[in-house]
Amino acid sequence: MIAHERSRTARLLAHYDQPGPRYTSYPTAVEFHEGFGDTEYRERLAAADAHANEPLSLYAHLPFCEERCLYCGCNIVVTRHRGVAAAYLEQLLLELELLARHLPHRRTLSQMHWGGGTPTYYAAADLERLFNAIAQRFEFTLDAEIGIEVDPRVTSAEQIRSLRRLGFNRLSMGVQDFDPRVQDAVHRVQSYELTAELLREARDAGFRSVNLDLIYGLPYQVPERFERTLEQVLTLRPERVAVYSFAFVPWIKPHMNHIPAEALPAPETKLALLAQAIDAFTRAGYRAIGMDHWALPDDDLALAMADGSLHRNFMGYTVQSARDMVALGISGIGDVQGAFAQNTKKLPQYAAALADGRFPIDRGYALDADDLLRRHVITRLMCDSRLDMRDVERRFDISFPDAFATELEELTGSGPYRTDGLLTLTADAIELTPLGRMFVRNVCMVFDHHLRRKVAPTSPVFSRTV
Ligand SMILES: C[S@@+](CC[C@H](N)C(=O)[O-])C[C@H]1O[C@@H](n2cnc3c(N)ncnc32)[C@H](O)[C@@H]1O
Ligand code: SF4
Repeated sequence: MIAHERSRTARLLAHYDQPGPRYTSYPTAVEFHEGFGDTEYRERLAAADAHANEPLSLYAHLPFCEERCLYCGCNIVVTRHRGVAAAYLEQLLLELELLARHLPHRRTLSQMHWGGGTPTYYAAADLERLFNAIAQRFEFTLDAEIGIEVDPRVTSAEQIRSLRRLGFNRLSMGVQDFDPRVQDAVHRVQSYELTAELLREARDAGFRSVNLDLIYGLPYQVPERFERTLEQVLTLRPERVAVYSFAFVPWIKPHMNHIPAEALPAPETKLALLAQAIDAFTRAGYRAIGMDHWALPDDDLALAMADGSLHRNFMGYTVQSARDMVALGISGIGDVQGAFAQNTKKLPQYAAALADGRFPIDRGYALDADDLLRRHVITRLMCDSRLDMRDVERRFDISFPDAFATELEELTGSGPYRTDGLLTLTADAIELTPLGRMFVRNVCMVFDHHLRRKVAPTSPVFSRTV
């Protein structure tokens, strides 16, 4: 790196490398509180049921994994005792029944996603049982997006064919990195050949949209070897790719302490890895989707990006097809009629609530008018890399310069955002530059009222933005 580039990178890192949310929701989950529980959730479901003709989105969390990957930040349960997973399936079915009883008129799904954990921890027959139970109570729209996360190391061709027969049309596979040294350090050994074989099975079974997950910022990742992983991913030509920034949060996930911290790439290397991914996927003809996804131009995600209908929720970037999302399973977060409702993360509490006929809600949050406005602003920035201020004025009946005087001053005044070249301001819009897209979380943080209100926390809460 030549000297002036080095000093520019150092300046950017000094300004923007700080703890910050990934904005899969606004307000973020740290604002959820115990004052929102079963009763409040039932009220929101009743309000949702009044919109009988609107389709819903449904998320089901299947948390089991046979082993833990050291980088994993998901809500998972590691066990080889199949009885635990069998009991959980019965509880999920109880929760589904309870949910359906509270939505007697609202029974159409335009989107369903099963995440984890590893949903394919379950045998094909179990997955089929859950799918059929849902399909008996809810009807899928003809163009419904039905997706599932699969770990290629534990997923069989039979499972893939069975999922396709049931009606799943999107698959997401975890990869992270093909470099054996990285794989060894994070306890996830998965060959290129195994991944390629499962992808071939998926295509043969009729899947037309497959996503691969990568992570940058893992131990021992260096640009020279990451290049090889990117080349290998490109030979597979997945329709979608997610390249997540490694969220290193050992204070929340103590198993991350087993990662050799000295092997984690420095922030400037992390930025270089991201720049490398941006370059590789753009040159290969992929469209950049929001912050960290790429899609082939004819994939629905790219089409949604092009027509401004891209959406972001707890599943990441999606094609928005429903205003309300209900969730099943431990840690699942519903987003219903202006409120978030999160299930307990603990199996015993989950089972006890359902045995009692209660929704296993642990925490939640009812958005007020200011939250709804800011949620829209942050979602559009994350999805479109631009914000149409006039559109916001029309939708919310506000004057943008009056409502966001402080934020506009910070973003477009003499502060770093404009001088660093992260954004441009026109009469109607805030536009992120290609550099600004890399720091979109920081730009969104300027609009985050809850974050601004907080005194600096004494212990860390969020992962770093770089
Ligand atoms: C539930 S897992 C994927 C499904 C399946 N269990 C697997 O591993 O293939 C979801 C994805 O989250 C991402 N992920 C997990 N922990 C992460 C972390 N700490 N930082 C960034 N991404 C993470 C990984 O890319 C992973 O593939
Ligand atoms: S990355 Fe996937 S397989 Fe690994 S621990 Fe997390 S959920 Fe389980």
